[in-house]
Amino acid sequence: MGVHIDRHLANLALVGFMGTGKTSVGRLVAENLHFDFLDTDELIQNSTGRSIADIFSRDGEPAFRALERRVVEEIAAKKNTVISTGGGLPTNPENLAKLKTHALVVCLWASPEKIWERVRNQSHRPLLHDADPQKKIRELLATREPFYRQADVLVNTDLRSPREVAQQIALQFKLANRDKR
Ligand code: S3P
Repeated sequence: MGVHIDRHLANLALVGFMGTGKTSVGRLVAENLHFDFLDTDELIQNSTGRSIADIFSRDGEPAFRALERRVVEEIAAKKNTVISTGGGLPTNPENLAKLKTHALVVCLWASPEKIWERVRNQSHRPLLHDADPQKKIRELLATREPFYRQADVLVNTDLRSPREVAQQIALQFKLANRDKR
């Protein structure tokens, strides 16, 4: 079992659609590995002093994507860190390539139905402020699937608790590092 990666794996990055559990799973993986935890949306909010929704509504999505690219550059210097990323971040191939220079990139996958179940009672995601959010989820997920598939590891979260997903990922990370020695 385990993925064979020739790169140096200082960090572990979680990518995947909104509502796949990147933040909750990421915190658990960090605990398990005794790593620090950070979240790219949180870094953007801290550095700008603004909410993601405010950046989207006043400056537009391209401005947000530019901030995301900057954060991706900044975190490349981290060590022993679990990095949870915004759902759209890996749709820029340069972001994904940069993450792969220092991290094992794990994608959390979920069906559109599960995603809807998890996000329907939350309101902080501007991309889901849509007349038909379920349709928007299906469409965005289909467009992004080819990007998410570029991750080193893909984990389906539909039928697993965050704790189970986190354990599986921590194990994959340990195996991937061990395989290289
Ligand atoms: C986005 C996902 C969000 C956040 C922003 C855009 C996306 O992060 O970065 O609202 O494009 O899918 P989460 O995946 O943490 O919700």
